[in-house]
Amino acid sequence: MIHQNKKIMKFMPNLKTKKVMPLISIAAALLLGSFALVSNVNAEASLDKLKATLEGQIDLMKPELETKVKGLSTDTKMSMMAILAMHNRYSDKATLRQVMLEVLQDYQGIVMGIMTDSSEMAADSARRLANHRIPVGGLLPYLGLENINDERLSLLESFNDTVEGNSIKLAKAADAGDMAKAANLLAPITSGCVACHDVFRSKPGVSELLK
Ligand code: HEC
Repeated sequence: MIHQNKKIMKFMPNLKTKKVMPLISIAAALLLGSFALVSNVNAEASLDKLKATLEGQIDLMKPELETKVKGLSTDTKMSMMAILAMHNRYSDKATLRQVMLEVLQDYQGIVMGIMTDSSEMAADSARRLANHRIPVGGLLPYLGLENINDERLSLLESFNDTVEGNSIKLAKAADAGDMAKAANLLAPITSGCVACHDVFRSKPGVSELLK
């Protein structure tokens, strides 16, 4: 557990351990089917909400996906939990494509903010991007069954660090009026988008009707 907690803190350096760890422990306990970890945790509405969200995601999965998800390693499950815990906008209808288009819009909002020297526009867009909506059923149903394994999903950790971590840094740079620094952070964010697409997405919109 200590090792796993460290791993999670790597994701979430900005979050206070006291507030977050019970949440992660509950979430992990839930996912791992061990309720031993939950004993010393205060019952809080937010924990119940996360628990319900997770159970809801798994409930929505078809058996072939559910089986694969349950077969993932503890490390992978902890990584997934850490990513989920960084977000608090869960949708019960949005697809990942719809979420990605919102992400693109926020990305463009960042660029517009930088170009118009609007620190507020850049910072707000960056924070929305970092806390993008989670699509219905979570991320996993959209990644393809062939990607639901420990090797592939271990990559999500670095994509998340790159995109969301740098978006939060960018928001802080914009808050401080440092648009040069904000502009420099666009490159790593963009690399994170592209890296994730390379692994988890094929070329969008390809026609089956072309030879
Ligand atoms: C966790 C991995 C991941 C990251 C990080 C990621 N994407 Fe995506 N993105 C995907 C996947 C998977 C799809 C394909 C979804 C589908 O077709 O169901 C996608 C699709 C898209 C699409 C096409 C939507 C469509 O209608 O076909 C856009 C645009 C997009 N992403 C933008 C971005 C931007 C901008 C970023 C970075 C700020 C980003 N993505 C970061 C995984 C990711």
